[in-house]
Amino acid sequence: MDILFCTSEAYPLIKTGGLADVSGSLPKALHDMGNDIRLVLPAYPEAVAKTERLVPVANLSLEGASAPVEILAGRFPGSRMKVYLVNAPEYFSRSGNPYVQEDGSDWPDNAERFALFARAIVALALDRLGMNWKPELVHCNDWQTGLVPPLLAQHSNRPATLFTIHNLAYQGLFPAETFHTLALPASLWSIDGVEFHGQLSFMKSGIAGADWITTVSPTYAEEIRTSTYGYGLEGLLQYRADHLTGILNGMDCEIWDPATDPWIKRNYDARTLQHKAPNKSALQRQLGLPAKPGQLLFAHIGRLVEQKGVDLILDILDELFLYPVQLVLLGSGDSELEALLSAAATRYPEQLAIHIGYDEQLAHRIKAGADCFLMPSRYEPCGLNQMYSLRYGTVPVVHRTGGLADSVNDLNEKTATDYTATGFSFAQDSSEELLDACTRAIDYFRTSRVDWWKLVITGMRENFCWSESAGQYLDLYIHTCNLVRAGMLETGESEYLAL
Ligand code: ADP
Ligand code: GLC
Repeated sequence: MDILFCTSEAYPLIKTGGLADVSGSLPKALHDMGNDIRLVLPAYPEAVAKTERLVPVANLSLEGASAPVEILAGRFPGSRMKVYLVNAPEYFSRSGNPYVQEDGSDWPDNAERFALFARAIVALALDRLGMNWKPELVHCNDWQTGLVPPLLAQHSNRPATLFTIHNLAYQGLFPAETFHTLALPASLWSIDGVEFHGQLSFMKSGIAGADWITTVSPTYAEEIRTSTYGYGLEGLLQYRADHLTGILNGMDCEIWDPATDPWIKRNYDARTLQHKAPNKSALQRQLGLPAKPGQLLFAHIGRLVEQKGVDLILDILDELFLYPVQLVLLGSGDSELEALLSAAATRYPEQLAIHIGYDEQLAHRIKAGADCFLMPSRYEPCGLNQMYSLRYGTVPVVHRTGGLADSVNDLNEKTATDYTATGFSFAQDSSEELLDACTRAIDYFRTSRVDWWKLVITGMRENFCWSESAGQYLDLYIHTCNLVRAGMLETGESEYLAL
């Protein structure tokens, strides 16, 4: 199939979180399956530097852009997959985070930036650049590409569109005036279109306008249809439930492989698990903790935001450290959480190591060195760290929500005896339940090393590589294209698709 994959980040070109991991690895998997899938991203300086064989291929005059927009084409690092970069220096030639300024506040022109990005994608998708390539399907991801489906729907003979929700909490909401500033087609301003309680919502635009919607785990696909997780979009998602599928994310099994990982102290696999130990002592040394092989080492890595439940970890520290255990934490984000974590580290110099910042290499070393990985996320559309941890023999302790519920098997009497357990999970996102799950892990670790290693090995043998989920995407791409060709979506859902 010919597919255009649109995203605002893709590892290793640019990354702030899991969206980049998925956008770097799912297209690669589909490409390896023989599809002509091409990536399109904004031309951030980091992405320009890392894309291989980059050349300008077209100039575009786009509505809203003061200067012509250049399209650059190149190759994804280490692959033959094509990458397009939308080069509009006024909007994208900024180093650092693609969405926020150094002080953490949004770039004030985010609506303009991602509207321009969407318009460039539409031109590419309709082959308006004279490149003689027209995708059959355009795969959009999160609010930054949310305007693409309804803008494309204005054209006949257009490709099919699929919109993936990676995180419903980030909606791309802007004041109503922005709708006019962006000079979007007037017909889009409706309750069936981009208008959301008097504001302009890029996320709603993608959900309402796409031919098919996916999200990144089956459980999250159900959760977002409830008021607890729906952020006001649950009604629309219920309405579109027949065209909404949850597909569990996969992981890049080349990048995340303890047998070949060049960043860790000693490579290992399920048969050479004893070599995990040098990784633990190297990590303890690197982060200034006493090297105590017998102590259970917990870890957490993530954006320091409310979603990830880091405050719950902070709440349990005093009780957790009554046990002979250690915790390492790598993260950056909310400055208040950063300060609280750093203060806690001074209280427990022998047990707690905090590394504030973003460090890809250290993330690999933590997964290899730790015994248990904490993910008390309040909600988690999919989560990738629990999958990476499982592969690295690091037992996840997770809140049973979203993709965490779909990828971690709680240890209980049954799963312990039939060897299907892969971690510890808890039902409510409370500090009591988190502590209870941690103490269950500590007890299990201390009671029988043989049983512990069985748990570890079961997790390592789980297969979250992309092959299975990429196949599901491909089936859905084909199904969506067929529906669009047959005109079934347009006639069946005129209310929401009359954009
Ligand atoms: P989310 O996308 O919500 O942040 P995921 O679990 O899907 O959560 O993906 C997070 C990705 O970002 C993982 O690859 C994780 O290792 C990485 N990551 C997050 N914070 C950091 C950090 N401070 N340093 C290095 N990697 C990080
Ligand atoms: C989002 C979600 C995370 C998911 C990632 C990739 O950032 O918060 O749960 O794994 O997207 O889909």
